[in-house]
Amino acid sequence: MGRSEQIERHMGNMKLNLKIWRQEGPAAKGAIKTYPVSNVSEDMSFLEMLDVLNDDLVRKGEEPIAFDHDCREGICGSCSLFINGEPHGPGRMITTCQLHMRKFKDGDTIHVEPWRAEAFPVIKDLVVDRGAFDRIQAAGGFVSVNTSGNLVDGNAIPIPKHDADTAFDAATCIGCGACVAACTNSSAMLFVSAKVSQFALLPQGQVEAKRRVQAMVEQMDKEGFGNCSNTGACEAECPKGISLSHIARMNREYMVASVTKD
Ligand code: SF4
Ligand code: FES
Repeated sequence: MGRSEQIERHMGNMKLNLKIWRQEGPAAKGAIKTYPVSNVSEDMSFLEMLDVLNDDLVRKGEEPIAFDHDCREGICGSCSLFINGEPHGPGRMITTCQLHMRKFKDGDTIHVEPWRAEAFPVIKDLVVDRGAFDRIQAAGGFVSVNTSGNLVDGNAIPIPKHDADTAFDAATCIGCGACVAACTNSSAMLFVSAKVSQFALLPQGQVEAKRRVQAMVEQMDKEGFGNCSNTGACEAECPKGISLSHIARMNREYMVASVTKD
C-alpha cells in the first residue's frame, strides 16, 4: 500500500491553519506562508499531517513542502521541525515523527519552521544541512580497532554496570539537532558531550580519549556553534533525555586532555 493510500484510510475531521516557512534554496529569501489543511485525524503523526497537505499541494500543481524524515519511529534523527516555538513541538521525549495530532485541537493555528542556527543552514523550506554534526563525529567520534585477528571479545572486558548504563544512555543520542535549535547560543555541547561520553566511560574508548575530546571540541568551534548558555533548554527539549551531566564530563575530559600529555 502506498503512502497516499495509507493516509486516505486514516482521514479524520480536524481542520488546521498552518503557517509554514517556505524557502526555495539556501540563498533565497524565505517567508512564512499560510496553508489550511483538512481531513486530519488525531491519530496521524505530525509528518502524516504534512503528507496530507503535500498531497493537496501536488493535486493543485503546487510545489510540496520539503521536510526531512526517514525512519518515522524516533530512531534516525532526521525529522527536525520547530513547531509552535519548540523543537519537535509539544510533548517531551519524542521526535517530530512521534508527535501525534491529538496534541492539537480542531481549528488550531500551528507555526512550523526549520531549525534556526548559523551552523545548520537552510537547504530548502524545512530542511537544514546538519553536515556540521557529521564533521564533528568524523573528527573523533569513533574507536580505532585493530582488525588483524587479535581482537578481544567485547564481552570479556568487565565494565561496571553504572558506567555501561551511562555510556548506553549517551549512545542513544540520535543526532537530531534539537539541542542546538533549543539553545539561545545555538550550542552543540549536549550532542558533542553525548558522543564523547559514549566512549569516555568505556575501556575501549580510553586509548584515543584525549585526542577525541580535543578534536571534537575543536571541530565544534570551527563549525560556528555557540558556547553553552547554561539554561538547560537542550536537555529539556532532547527527545532522548540526554543529561546535562555529559557536558560536565566533556568539560572535565577536555581539561584533563589540555593539561596532560598523551
Ligand atoms: S543530544 Fe538530544 S537533542 Fe541533541 S542531537 Fe542528541 S538526541 Fe538530538
Ligand atoms: S523520522 Fe527518524 S527520528 Fe523522526
